[in-house]
Amino acid sequence: MRLLAISDLHLAAAENRAALERLPAASPDWLILAGDIAEQPAHLAQAFAFLGQRFAKLIWVPGNHELWTVPGEEGALRGGAKYQAMVDVARRLGVVTPEDPFPLWPGPGGPLAIVPLFLLYDYSFRPADVALEQVLGWAWEHRLRSADEVRLSPTPHRSRQDWCAARLAESAARMERELPPGLPTVLVNHFPLRADLLTLRRIPRFSPWCGTTATEDWHRRFNARVCVHGHLHVPGTYWRDGVRFEEVSLGYPRQWQPFDRGPERALRQIWPPPMVAED
Ligand SMILES: [Fe+2]
Ligand SMILES: [Fe+2]
Repeated sequence: MRLLAISDLHLAAAENRAALERLPAASPDWLILAGDIAEQPAHLAQAFAFLGQRFAKLIWVPGNHELWTVPGEEGALRGGAKYQAMVDVARRLGVVTPEDPFPLWPGPGGPLAIVPLFLLYDYSFRPADVALEQVLGWAWEHRLRSADEVRLSPTPHRSRQDWCAARLAESAARMERELPPGLPTVLVNHFPLRADLLTLRRIPRFSPWCGTTATEDWHRRFNARVCVHGHLHVPGTYWRDGVRFEEVSLGYPRQWQPFDRGPERALRQIWPPPMVAED
């Protein structure tokens, strides 16, 4: 029994939907889905239904794409209402969300609490000498602007930063209250918890849309063994203070197809810790 993770399935792309169907049955393993699975509630439901037959438990956090406003049968849901609609899809299909009790890992190397987080970003991953009011102009000097600026509404919050601040406060308070002292955790968030995990070699000025400096020490503060994120579309494994950080993206077809790194190869083992070959 293993705890696996993947993110950024981006099922709006037909190639990614087709590739997902190749995933072999893996039950009794558990699967973490670390966001950017789909923009449409119907696509998210299809993914949950399909993967739910292949894994014993699914744990999901939203990415920025799940929060996008898309015209659809249910009307153009915005911001908090879109998040709630996606949480409802998950719950209908038995998938654990950031709004549910933290599941306890019952398998080898346990017990561990798995903590699905929805924290968003607040533009604080920009360089220290760029003021918040200048951040969009600074990114635009390199012709960069996240589609979130028009598609990810913060409603009913005044701004995405305000929404992020509310989620940070709420999530930290919940962990303080609900995690038993000393219990190790796996923290799952779509965005990397630390700015030094950014791997934006070609688009460094995309950093403002990638997380918040407020979570810099959460891996220590909340006793993490592993922190799982996606969003960067650059899979990798990193270590900070003895804690493993896993970027588990699949990404857009043009990003994984040339390397033949389809969903079956993109699945990452989170727990128990994978054996590292020694030479
Ligand atoms: Fe993504
Ligand atoms: Fe993302």
